[in-house]
Amino acid sequence: IRQLVKQRRPRGFPPGPSPIPVIGNIMSLATEPHVFMKKQSEIHGQIFSLDLGGYSAVVLNGYDAIRECLYHQADVFSDRPSLPLFMKMTKMGGLLNAKFGNGWIEHRQLASNSFRYFGSFQKPIDQKILEECMFFVDAIDKHKGKPFNPKHLVTNAVSNITNLIIFGERFTYDNCDFQHMIEIFSENVELAVSGWAFLYNAFPWIEYLPFGKHQKLFRNAAKVYNFLEQIIRRFSKGRVCNFPRHYIDDYLNKLDKCAGDLGTPYSRENLIYSVGELIIAGTETTTNTLRWAMLYMALYPNIQEKVHMELDSVLGSEKSPSLADKKRMPYVEAVLHEVLRFCNIVPLGIFRATTQDTLVSGYNIPKGTMVITNLYSVHFDEKYWCDPGTFSPHRFLDSNGNFVRREAFLPFSLGKRHCLGEHLARMEMFLFFTTMLQRFHLQFPPGTVPSLTPKLGMTLQPLPYSICAVRRQQ
Ligand code: HEM
Repeated sequence: IRQLVKQRRPRGFPPGPSPIPVIGNIMSLATEPHVFMKKQSEIHGQIFSLDLGGYSAVVLNGYDAIRECLYHQADVFSDRPSLPLFMKMTKMGGLLNAKFGNGWIEHRQLASNSFRYFGSFQKPIDQKILEECMFFVDAIDKHKGKPFNPKHLVTNAVSNITNLIIFGERFTYDNCDFQHMIEIFSENVELAVSGWAFLYNAFPWIEYLPFGKHQKLFRNAAKVYNFLEQIIRRFSKGRVCNFPRHYIDDYLNKLDKCAGDLGTPYSRENLIYSVGELIIAGTETTTNTLRWAMLYMALYPNIQEKVHMELDSVLGSEKSPSLADKKRMPYVEAVLHEVLRFCNIVPLGIFRATTQDTLVSGYNIPKGTMVITNLYSVHFDEKYWCDPGTFSPHRFLDSNGNFVRREAFLPFSLGKRHCLGEHLARMEMFLFFTTMLQRFHLQFPPGTVPSLTPKLGMTLQPLPYSICAVRRQQ
């Protein structure tokens, strides 16, 4: 066993906690891995390693270490690890999970162009988001101030923004097939960092065990891909070359153009993977942010009151918010930034890998090493944040109440693989949040305070809670 452990941590590799034979440190990741990793960094240093049962991963903690690697060595830290789970799910193709190289560049560029172009086809994207905001507040109003769980409503509203770009259409809030697909997809986002997923990565032969959560993950993925294949076929009907109506048309046009090129990364399979990744990366994250924001507004009525005051003074009760108003709403901006900092929507980022051997802080990190970016540790880094465990929007304001950017704020990560949807997500959060709070006062049903403990997964979301949205008297 000692020999095996030695091989697992190569020469000059960062140190880390002692592994248990065979399964290494996997068991330590069962509860709150991001908190465990931050604590370990206090013992072993900002850069340390974990043994994940047969392979080693480097964990980057704190703003300095993450900037050093993701920004100053951007090319080196831009790959995704070839883990058995990812290989089985997307064969390392598509976009989010693609290996660093031509395939990833082409897919990222195509998606980014689509976001810009289809986002503003016919109407500017903020206008389209505002239209969705109206469906959203109307649906909230139907609850007439009575308690409801906002999860499904927020998910439907938010996913419709990516649906517009990908399919050229929004789906109504009673579209059960689409909702079911998102539900099992987001279950997979949770399962992807479960103990069973780590075990599968270490011991892929457990695929043949008839039990285990990894089996559920595979079944869900098969259903999601099947659904996506059908819906892609439906929305590509009537495609006319050179007149793309949405992302799917654009992709298929590219696929046709490159037919016959030997090295082309475009394929029907990669289209399915990319569509799935864009839907889930765009929906799960923004939805969770808004659900946390609603929860914290009800929890801190004094903060909510300041938001209401700013909305009333800038917009009044009639005018719809627009992106141009953002500059005049520093408090709203500060609240949304504090939600992103404090709630750590993607606490460990998306796993990275090194493209070549490298040296960081005197440690050797070989090519192909899996790298975990502990974004939570950046947002709770005592060197940059005073009293990080307190929810306080004021840390984003100067003494005159102006919004101030903070350096150690990386909810969208950093470097070449940083979030592709950051701009879109910021627009969505601002417009959904302001439209909702302009009309409603959020409060918990009398006598209840929901848990603030997050539900664990690749993303952190609140446990299901009930809230009352009471129409404001203005
Ligand atoms: C990647 C956060 C919204 C699409 C990421 C990463 C993070 C992140 C932390 C990992 C980057 C890395 O590898 O280090 C968030 C948060 C969001 C959000 C907090 C909302 C509040 C969106 C939206 C979209 C999107 C709306 C698109 C519709 C992507 C894609 C990647 C990504 C495609 C993979 C990029 C690549 O591998 O090149 N996001 N995201 N995200 N995000 Fe987002």
